[in-house]
Amino acid sequence: MKFSDKRPIGIFDSGVGGLGILRELQRAFPTEDFIYLADTARMPYGTRDVSDITAYTIECFEKLQELNVKAVVLACNTSASYCIDEIKRIFDFPTLAVIGSAALDSVMVTYNKHILIFATNATTKSGAFQRAIKKVDSKADVRTRGCSDIVNIVEEGKGEDEESYELLRGYLEEYQEFDYDTILLGCTHLSFTKKNLQKALAEIGKDVKIIDPAKSISKDLKRMIEGLRIESDEEDQKISFYVSGDVNKFKRIASKLLQEPEENLDVSSFEVKG
Ligand code: DGL
Repeated sequence: MKFSDKRPIGIFDSGVGGLGILRELQRAFPTEDFIYLADTARMPYGTRDVSDITAYTIECFEKLQELNVKAVVLACNTSASYCIDEIKRIFDFPTLAVIGSAALDSVMVTYNKHILIFATNATTKSGAFQRAIKKVDSKADVRTRGCSDIVNIVEEGKGEDEESYELLRGYLEEYQEFDYDTILLGCTHLSFTKKNLQKALAEIGKDVKIIDPAKSISKDLKRMIEGLRIESDEEDQKISFYVSGDVNKFKRIASKLLQEPEENLDVSSFEVKG
């Protein structure tokens, strides 16, 4: 008899950035239900200190536990950089962080072992991506640029506007002397600035590969749910959203980013401590 676990899979991010991951997973796992939970009231996390990031992430995971998830994708790289071990220690359900898969993918595609990472300021400070990449290839030359400035722009649904283009162009100009052939998007929000990044790279005549963790995580999730035998064979897929901030604002931005009419989005609010 085939076993089917119909409980949803949680996806956690501080804000709308992880919707890029939801979009990928939704396509890759058509028989799975997903709960996307975002701490929109307290984002950005990337400019906060480790104790706030950890406390907020744990609180959001408690909510996911209450919602009876069978597994969680920790999309927020900032949270993963500081508290993935603590999350795994506290919660019984399996949690998958994006950092390891993205690090491996970037090592697999780089020819010259020069990798540039864009991440939040906090992730940059943690050195988590460097460590993950060095574990796979100790000879890799890795530089990380903190780009928390861009997070709020994406959160307003403006990742493809001129302001984000100018910021990205400025970041790239700082690395003219660094011969990178791969850029790793180490913050979920950056998935929604990709067209601008490609345009800025073309302007400076740079041909590089862009690693978007949204793509990397799918393979790992498949392996995990198959390995643990927690797949669902349900025919129709249900997606629900929980946000700690303004529900209407989230609906408006998510509708734009997911290209889905607002009335199709099932968004609820949840309380956080403040
Ligand atoms: N999107 C989150 C990440 O992947 C962090 C954005 C923020 O809240 O600063 O790191």
